[in-house]
Amino acid sequence: MQRTSMITVMNHRHSCRHFQPKPIPLDQIHELQAMAHHAQKGPFGTPLRMALHHQSENGKVGTYGTIRGAQHYLVGTVQNGPRAMEDFGHQFHRILLHAEALGLGTCWLGGTFSQGIFSQELREGEFIPAVSPIGIPAEGFHLVDQATRFVAQSHKRLPEEKLFFSHHFSKPISSQDLEQWHAPLFAARLAPSASNRQPWRFSVERHSVQIGLHRHPMYGAMLKTAKLADLQRMDIGIAMCQFEFAAREQRIPGNWSPLSSPINQGILPIAEWKVVA
Ligand SMILES: Cc1cc2nc3c(=O)[nH]c(=O)nc-3n(C[C@H](O)[C@H](O)[C@H](O)COP(=O)(O)O)c2cc1C
Repeated sequence: MQRTSMITVMNHRHSCRHFQPKPIPLDQIHELQAMAHHAQKGPFGTPLRMALHHQSENGKVGTYGTIRGAQHYLVGTVQNGPRAMEDFGHQFHRILLHAEALGLGTCWLGGTFSQGIFSQELREGEFIPAVSPIGIPAEGFHLVDQATRFVAQSHKRLPEEKLFFSHHFSKPISSQDLEQWHAPLFAARLAPSASNRQPWRFSVERHSVQIGLHRHPMYGAMLKTAKLADLQRMDIGIAMCQFEFAAREQRIPGNWSPLSSPINQGILPIAEWKVVA
């Protein structure tokens, strides 16, 4: 496994939609396949199945022209359940960050993809919330990439004062007071999210950090009317993954436990990172 600093990897990661049309090296394929094989459940225990596929062997993942040149796709399935999307987001992103650490490009696709033949391989109660191309980034201009980045304002992130709180999300906390949590919280802040909406909020408590969901009204309405995967809960799992990588790198070992308190200040508490001695 690589020794690269995952904080550095997360600082440099951005979505890649334009790839060199060649396969990734075999040793990297084996490494990613092994990781995918071991991603069998998330921090809350939902069963998952993940695998890296070559486009030509396994039928095409469709991307409606969003992605150019990719030879490999990471495809994952999850069993329906109350924490399914957070678990999927967390484990899928773990693999994508390892791909990034190997110098490869990735891009979460939760909307602009079709399942191809993978829909025929689903087991009872499973679905495919997202896929990602994995490949060698290409140089040069890709119109769809530029347009998507512009529309989503992908280079931007919300300011700290909108993200970081104390007292169960009720009091804003300044970045000077984050102490040991500074690096994990800033790593989580950089996480990718659907349409770059960044629905996560954090509350720093005495021996823990809570993560909550501040749902964008558009996604709330879409969830009610369309049969869409809950992309914003998947975003929460992704931010949890980035937080966790940085916390472990900063030697703040801990575990996630689910929260079930009601919405406070428009924020639904989801989980808590509790330090273990
Ligand atoms: C759950 C999820 C779903 C996404 N779905 C799509 C998608 O369908 N098509 C696309 O082009 N980008 C998609 N993205 C990529 C986001 O637009 C991108 O992460 C965001 O704009 C931030 O940019 P960055 O990843 O370069 O930091 C998705 C990202 C996430 C996390």
